[in-house]
Amino acid sequence: MTGPRLDRSRQLYEEALSLFPGGVNSPVRAAVKPQPFYVERGEGPYLYTVDGERLVDLVLGYGPLILGHRHPRVLEALREALDRGWLYGAPAEAEVELAKAILRHVKPGGMVRFVNSGTEATMTAIRLARGYTGRSLILKFEGNYHGSHDAVLVAAGSAAGHYGVPTSAGVPGEVARLTLVAPYNDLAAVEDAFRRHGSDIAAVIVEPVAANMGVVRPARGFLEGLRRITREHGALLILDEVVTGFRLGLGGAQERFGVDADLVTLGKIIGGGMPIGAVAGRREIMEHLTPSGKVFNAGTFNAHPLAMAAGLATIRELEESDALSAAERAAERLEAALRDALRDAGLEGVVVREASMLQYYTLPDEPRSLADVKRSDARLYQGFHVEALGRGVFVAPSHMEALFTSAAHQGEPLERAEEALYEALREAVKRSASKSGG
Ligand SMILES: Cc1ncc(COP(=O)(O)O)c(C=O)c1O
Repeated sequence: MTGPRLDRSRQLYEEALSLFPGGVNSPVRAAVKPQPFYVERGEGPYLYTVDGERLVDLVLGYGPLILGHRHPRVLEALREALDRGWLYGAPAEAEVELAKAILRHVKPGGMVRFVNSGTEATMTAIRLARGYTGRSLILKFEGNYHGSHDAVLVAAGSAAGHYGVPTSAGVPGEVARLTLVAPYNDLAAVEDAFRRHGSDIAAVIVEPVAANMGVVRPARGFLEGLRRITREHGALLILDEVVTGFRLGLGGAQERFGVDADLVTLGKIIGGGMPIGAVAGRREIMEHLTPSGKVFNAGTFNAHPLAMAAGLATIRELEESDALSAAERAAERLEAALRDALRDAGLEGVVVREASMLQYYTLPDEPRSLADVKRSDARLYQGFHVEALGRGVFVAPSHMEALFTSAAHQGEPLERAEEALYEALREAVKRSASKSGG
């Protein structure tokens, strides 16, 4: 299989390597093989590259584009907003409307603070939890990603509830030690951490479905267990719904799994593809944020008019159409294609899907933790990514990411994606077997 054409992309990437560290502005983009392609435009389920390739996009900006690229309703809302200027430094009606739209669906309701990224949302939620409880420690899970700020760039600590060590250079050990780490889905480890540090833990932050180690689902009782333990110890439960919010359903993971958080962090879909983040939570907690309270948050671009417009149009479309189920139906079809490929290749494996996000693993059972995911064949996945690209389908370059579908994935592009994923995985298995002499 010949790869995608890359002539112009090669020139751009060469320049980029001298302009940006690693040639890109977010690391996962450099992992695309054989090298990053450059995008000219997006339309519906497709990305068009500067080299004239049309790719069915199963990355979708890493989650936000639940309606696909350049959805007419979102485009119209953005055009209308642009016509009225794009930054005011003062409130505007759209932020009131978007907050109401979010709170119609996202328990625990109450109040919202808009920020500009998922990173800012989790940073703000954690500061708020610390300010509200007067405690310093937080607990996160191995393999959960909450953005690129210091408190959450901590993983490691394989033993239950150990103090974390930084994942990144530049995060001081003193800061990382304020973050406890437990294996995902391991309630015993959480209990243990609370037994030892309970009165110092401000919050547990968790991805209700982990979308940063592929797709790892919560075991039965895990989220409920976190709710119970945090409540018993007076700590807050922060559900990081930056990916799952408005993808697992309008009410997100809280509704899907019947669990009530104290604070919910949102991003991605609620901005319709514009930069956004939000913290939503109970009024009595949220009122601790400035200016009503003493926990500082501010931002030149908070509640940016374009993000408000695109987010509102997106949520209204999700409310009024069957877009979420359409995206889910597309994911079901891709799930079947990957399952068939694993079976026909004679490879032991599982495909995990939750709503419109999915990933496969070469494991006998559905993974429940980072340790499980690490046993899946990462090199095979890279081969799969390359083969898929060669067949006109863009899947994330790492098995630590999810494949996403949108409402625009229907008909011909969906069939093309099904076929391409099936063949790509079969071919990747064949190549990896011949490389290993099998
Ligand atoms: C669960 C989760 N939380 C937070 C973030 C950070 O969001 P952002 O990249 O907008 O800062 C991400 C990003 O992928 C995420 O997946």
